Amino acid sequence: MTERIYNFSAGPAVLPVEVLEQAQRDLLSLPGVGMSVMEISHRSKTFDEILGKADTGVRQLLGVPDNYHVLFLQGGASLQFSMVAMNLLPAGGSADYIVTGSWGKKAVKEAKRCGAVNIAANMADSGFTRIPDPEEINLDSNAAYVHITTNETIEGVEWKEEPEVGKVPLVADASSDILSHPIPVEKYGLIYAGAQKNMGPSGVTMIIIRDDLLPRIPDGLHTMLDYRTHVENHSLYNTPNTWGIYIISLVCDWLKTKGGLKGMHRENLAKAKLLYDAIDATDFYRGHAEPGCRSIMNVTFRLPSEELEKKFATEATAKSLDGLKGHRSVGGIRASIYNAFPHDGVEALVSFMKGFEQKNG
Ligand SMILES: Cc1ncc(COP(=O)(O)O)c(C=O)c1O
Repeated sequence: MTERIYNFSAGPAVLPVEVLEQAQRDLLSLPGVGMSVMEISHRSKTFDEILGKADTGVRQLLGVPDNYHVLFLQGGASLQFSMVAMNLLPAGGSADYIVTGSWGKKAVKEAKRCGAVNIAANMADSGFTRIPDPEEINLDSNAAYVHITTNETIEGVEWKEEPEVGKVPLVADASSDILSHPIPVEKYGLIYAGAQKNMGPSGVTMIIIRDDLLPRIPDGLHTMLDYRTHVENHSLYNTPNTWGIYIISLVCDWLKTKGGLKGMHRENLAKAKLLYDAIDATDFYRGHAEPGCRSIMNVTFRLPSEELEKKFATEATAKSLDGLKGHRSVGGIRASIYNAFPHDGVEALVSFMKGFEQKNG
């Protein structure tokens, strides 16, 4: 099979065809280098340029201010659940966590190993269908930081704007919506994101950290787990994921051709609207998240029964609409429509949904 199908996977996820084609062209030999990017030293001038391009690309797209460092590390967003707390939650201190879904819960689990955690809000009782209203959030003005998950990939619930946290640094897991829309980076102390949804392949985690947080890091952390190591060595303390960073540099180029994050956001909103409109047009499909909190990236919905959901996912796969089965922890259907997911793929899904309802409704 050489035809590409519509890949609704939550991650690793669809990459832009133009990026894959460029990588394919340069796979055997990077122009002027005579080797694949996977074969060159991470200490070479060529890789230095690739890393610089990825760094500049992200900085330009997100408008990262100069007092922030951009790091490309490994260990996934899951390792950041630990590193954030190890680095920023001091002995005797406490951190605020606003839990809006399954990933936020996992972040709390790791932070608790390091120190006190104040659950400033927990939306579990609502079935993780929404973001808390400001009056539902109990922040501690002495907290070391406030942690949010900007987009909960499993439940399909996203923050539309940052919570007001005063002077306390805001820390965000932005794994599943990074680079999908503009964000005011200056409102954050630290942002982390696994690359494998909107930025590139799995195996790279991007961290954007404000410079004034570095002096808060306690001495004595393991070298690899200390953000200062990676800041001082520009992500080259050890061997980074050279291939992944190269793809990120190409994705940044591609995003610029889309009109940057503003242009990308417009396209993402149009795709999401098409799908949510189809869900809302009938009682057969039921959206999981409350309308005001719906994710633009991960569209989650239910059918009248689990049997029908299973049938839906199986029949969709047979029609080259793959990866629609909801996460094993919540069930239902999840259509992940990241940056690189094409508009005509959403149209194909909407048409499949109409046909499925006619036959099974
Ligand atoms: C919001 C969010 N946080 C964290 C993770 C975990 O990422 P990783 O598998 O890179 O550790 C994911 C993965 O899907 C995610 O969507």
